[in-house]
Amino acid sequence: MTKSAIEIKNLTKVFISTRRRAIIVPVERKRVEALKSVDLDIPRGRLYGLLGPNGAGKTTLIKILATLVLPTSGTANIMGYDVLGDSSYVRAIIGVCQGNERSIYWKLSARENLVFFGRLYRLTQSEAKERADELLGRMDLLEKADEKAENLSHGMRMKIVFARALIHDPPILLLDEPTQGLDPTFATDLRQYVRDKLKDKTILLTTHYMHEADMLCDRIALINEGEIKSLGTPHELKERVRDYDSLHITLRGAPHLEKIRAIDDVLAATVRERNGVHELVVTAHDGYDLTRRLLNMLHDQGIRVEQFEVKEPTLDDVFLQLTGRRIED
Ligand SMILES: Nc1ncnc2c1ncn2[C@@H]1O[C@H](COP(=O)(O)OP(=O)(O)OP(=O)(O)O)[C@@H](O)[C@H]1O
Ligand SMILES: [Mg+2]
Repeated sequence: MTKSAIEIKNLTKVFISTRRRAIIVPVERKRVEALKSVDLDIPRGRLYGLLGPNGAGKTTLIKILATLVLPTSGTANIMGYDVLGDSSYVRAIIGVCQGNERSIYWKLSARENLVFFGRLYRLTQSEAKERADELLGRMDLLEKADEKAENLSHGMRMKIVFARALIHDPPILLLDEPTQGLDPTFATDLRQYVRDKLKDKTILLTTHYMHEADMLCDRIALINEGEIKSLGTPHELKERVRDYDSLHITLRGAPHLEKIRAIDDVLAATVRERNGVHELVVTAHDGYDLTRRLLNMLHDQGIRVEQFEVKEPTLDDVFLQLTGRRIED
């Protein structure tokens, strides 16, 4: 038997969308290459992350593995089963969480939802009930078990969506942005649960959040415009930008960003304003050399520097180096 739990080879997906603006105008065809020759091998029991900006192709890859979208070319196998030829076997061994609270029934209670989906996976009524209560307990939702999903908060509904993916105890989990839109406490709970309680599962998780990928993933695939740009442990990826410095400067007053970007050696500069305080982040090859020139320029612009720090490179810096853009742009 193959050691890989998920094997993706040369996978391509082209979407052709059509639209007609008016009856007399011919149909317009738009071609989007959502995945370009993707290769990825995930060994059993590992948690891999797909990290990339909007439109990178993350959901498309998850949907192909979940047998919801057909690939244009290439192959994908899960535990040796082909997503095209053996799709019903694949469906039996995967749990999918699409980060969409509409994937449960709002008129059913939390428990009824889980029992219903458990029955679809051929659990007996008593097995499904037992498993539903076990998961509701783990999600801290037993008190709300008989409440209709429509009366629960968004975060609670997302916990049911997540529990739904686990109801048949599948060896493989496909999690598409599982913490998106959750309040920070729920998101932290869920991450801890994934990290501590699902160690024996093989998981592919997509996210926009760098700290989530950093904290959870054994390996991260950085994806941009349908291509995997780099694959490695969080540490390996960050090692690749070790010779970059990230300067974090807190300012009173808005800096002239274009002038900063025009300084030689500045690779990127971004600024965020919060309550009148501006957080300037500048990436450069040699932060020490740049510091003096940057502080002089800010002084000339009449801007007070409140705090100054040189930080370790983040996964966003790696992404910037590989693609010329930031993940969270
Ligand atoms: N059904 C579809 N028809 C046409 N184009 C599509 C379809 N689904 C996705 N696309 C396009 O494919 C590309 C990849 O989309 P995808 O949803 O996989 O990105 P993503 O990485 O999940 O983005 P996000 O972070 O916003 O969720 C995008 O350009 C998107 O517009
Ligand atoms: Mg997506």
